[in-house]
Amino acid sequence: MNHVRIAIDGPAGAGKSTVARTVAKRLGILYVDTGAMYRGVAWLAQTYGVSPSDEAGLVAMLREHPLTCGRSEHDTVDILADGRVITQELRSPAVSGMVSELSAHPAVRDILTALQRDFSRHESVVMDGRDIGTVVMPDADVKIFLTADLDERARRRLSEMEGQGFCVDYQELRATMAERDARDASRPVAPLRQAPDAIVVDSTGKSVEDVADEILSIARQVLHG
Ligand code: DC
Repeated sequence: MNHVRIAIDGPAGAGKSTVARTVAKRLGILYVDTGAMYRGVAWLAQTYGVSPSDEAGLVAMLREHPLTCGRSEHDTVDILADGRVITQELRSPAVSGMVSELSAHPAVRDILTALQRDFSRHESVVMDGRDIGTVVMPDADVKIFLTADLDERARRRLSEMEGQGFCVDYQELRATMAERDARDASRPVAPLRQAPDAIVVDSTGKSVEDVADEILSIARQVLHG
């Protein structure tokens, strides 16, 4: 297959990572989860006691403890900090609670955007996030904006977190997600927004396989006319 880049953006809990991973697997190409990179910065900030509001402190922290990415054996990206894989530790409520604030800093975004572009430069990727079709890969071959209604997104995140052993209250989680979406969409730099040439896919009430099929069929149409 030629060099193909697929961008999937959308709010938290729309199913981006599961769907993007499935699409990448079906195409036999790399899946890059950019939210995990922002979560990696939050993990470091929590570990080294840097406030998510301290842009210069976060940049200094990243200089001293660079976040690196490795390729896992499943064609996904592992996040490493201080030489250790931390991918499995990035979904905790503590990390989730800090990540949106720190992801609003332009200097933090510049560092991660450069890392993300490195992946897409040389190989085919499915990359998901908030600004992939608008900022990271504005020339992506296929751009998808994946949405679902808030209740369904909150239910999905609840079962994901319960599956990982976290005890969370549904109403609280729903409110936190609504707040995080509003913050991600209203920040001045690289806000969550649909690229003008993105195709909207609504995952409400659909299975992962159905949504992946829908995206693969859009990709085929765009790539082969
Ligand atoms: O998709 P996620 O929940 O793992 O994303 C975590 C946070 O990172 C979310 O609050 C938005 C931010 N993010 C971002 O600003 N830009 C991206 N490309 C990906 C995630």
